[in-house]
Amino acid sequence: MTLQLPERVTVYEVGPRDGLQNEARQVPTADKIRFIDGLVAAGLRHIEITSFVSPRWIPQLADGAEVARGVKRRDDVHFSALVPNRRGLDAAMAAGMREIAVFLSASETHNKKNVNKTIADTLRAFREVVPPALDAGLKVRAYVSTVFGCPYEGDVDPARVVWLSRELRELGVYQISLGDTIGVANPRQVEAVMGEILAAIPLRDADGVDVVAVHFHDTQGTALANCLTAMTLGVTTIDSSVGGLGGCPYAPGASGNLATDDLVAMLHSMGIETGIDLDKLIECSRLATTFVGHELPSKYMKAHLGKQARVRRRAEREAEAGTEKAPGGE
Ligand code: HMG
Ligand code: MG
Repeated sequence: MTLQLPERVTVYEVGPRDGLQNEARQVPTADKIRFIDGLVAAGLRHIEITSFVSPRWIPQLADGAEVARGVKRRDDVHFSALVPNRRGLDAAMAAGMREIAVFLSASETHNKKNVNKTIADTLRAFREVVPPALDAGLKVRAYVSTVFGCPYEGDVDPARVVWLSRELRELGVYQISLGDTIGVANPRQVEAVMGEILAAIPLRDADGVDVVAVHFHDTQGTALANCLTAMTLGVTTIDSSVGGLGGCPYAPGASGNLATDDLVAMLHSMGIETGIDLDKLIECSRLATTFVGHELPSKYMKAHLGKQARVRRRAEREAEAGTEKAPGGE
């Protein structure tokens, strides 16, 4: 059996937002900007750079406006920011954002913990955000979290995700990212749940733009397997976070967004293009390690740095041996 896989995948980088929102350390604004510029240099073209949410709830991203104003804009790079309400939209637009993302959960309890509202009230709030954003020419993405399981309620009925996805499409969002917020999905479940969703909303719109994206967490080591399953179903936009930074602060134990490094390494090794330079990406993960002050979960980064260190040690040993063989040199 030959796996049917896409030739190219769009990686949607969420590290500067989904990653940094969950870090204990407050990363200086200038470091965030350097980090985002580095991601662009590594070839990422879709980057969620910050949030315009309450600084009481997410103090790590309280400098969203400065970050949005500080990054270098390019026509071929799409920066996005998370927005929960009209106030967030106004702040995002004032800071020059051309794309925003709204977010809600498929389970009531997680939604309440995340935005302090019922799902119905959250959808009402979206009606004050999405139409004016579209009228102002912005693109609007949406996240549905806890699609494959909720940390508070357990199983989530796929029918709820189908319902929310339809509502979001009707509102006019161009893409819906389906989140395994606590990293409990397995490939069979991905096949079953996505099957239901894709029967209700199209995978791509009339212009070929991906309507459905996936956002897996690697909490139990299943994220890449889930990505592979999603790709066999035709998905070609995948969210990930450089180095594996972060998670959701309102989903206990949800550490570990899928690492962009691991995703890109797997895709490239299968001949799937991303347009990303893996060596430059690893430099971004290394940079992130320095400013968050701890190791990051990316497996590819560890393997790559380990290999580099071995090559360096061998070169040093060979240089030493050469010096011993030829005392005094020439
Ligand atoms: P609230 O406390 O219910 O509402 O928060 P509020 O309207 O009373 O506002 C509280 C305070 O925030 C007030 O200030 C407002 O002015 C202010 P105070 O009077 O206390 O000084 N405020 C704002 N400030 C700046 N920007 C705004 C804004 N709105 C209100 N836009 C609210 C409701 C939605 C604001 C709050 O719950 C919130 O900001 N939540 C954000 C939570 C969040 O960002 N969570 C993480 C992202 S979701 C996620 O990680 C999952 C995802 O990655 C997918 C996945 O991984 O599966 C997307
Ligand atoms: Mg996430």
